[in-house]
Amino acid sequence: MKLKFSPSILASDFAHLAEEAQRMEQAGADYLHIDVMDGHFVPNITLGPPVIRSLRPCCSLPFDVHLMISHPLAYLERFAQAGADLITVHVECEDDVGETLGQIKALGCQPGLTLRPATPIEAVFPYLEQVGMVLVMTVEPGFGGQPFRPDMLPKIQTLRQRLDSLGLETDIQVDGGIGTPTIASVCQAGANVIVAGSSLFGKEDYRAALQGLRALGEAAMPSPAR
Ligand code: DX5
Ligand code: ZN
Repeated sequence: MKLKFSPSILASDFAHLAEEAQRMEQAGADYLHIDVMDGHFVPNITLGPPVIRSLRPCCSLPFDVHLMISHPLAYLERFAQAGADLITVHVECEDDVGETLGQIKALGCQPGLTLRPATPIEAVFPYLEQVGMVLVMTVEPGFGGQPFRPDMLPKIQTLRQRLDSLGLETDIQVDGGIGTPTIASVCQAGANVIVAGSSLFGKEDYRAALQGLRALGEAAMPSPAR
């Protein structure tokens, strides 16, 4: 599987969001990770569809929108219309998960499903056929810059085994605390889409930072096929 990077704009300079996104695109990112928080599902508030709509013409990377909100169903259409390409929702949200994933697909976006660190990985198993990506949170959602949780590695391994046994080439994304010291462990466990905020934004040379992480991650991936 190809190793892909989705830099999280949460760690960017919001006063220069368009330039930050463009610099990351030029540096070789694969997606742009956009964290949406509602102050209810998580104790923090970030941004919503108007910001995504404004950013859309400034950057041609696919927008990877991570919805940390209690009621995604009511907002999906607005995010799709604003320019989201991938929409990831939490299995712990208060809407019907199967219906929510179906609606994301119906809107022409790729559905993704994620889970908090305390939620067992088995919670996403009923939906594996419905998603293009599963995001294993490696910190408690809500804030950037938190330390990576190595106790999440077995969840990544179990999920990759489960996907392999079903014959599914679904992406496994990881989010939270990923940087030079931690990327090898998640890639070795079976992750292939890396969200990184504070280990990329704010660096002097985004291309060098991305290439450094890519080299470490690729070297740790389990087999040439992956
Ligand atoms: C946390 C967000 C993450 C966050 C990651 O709730 O989902 O995407 O921006 O930030 P770092 O890479 O700094 O841990
Ligand atoms: Zn995120």
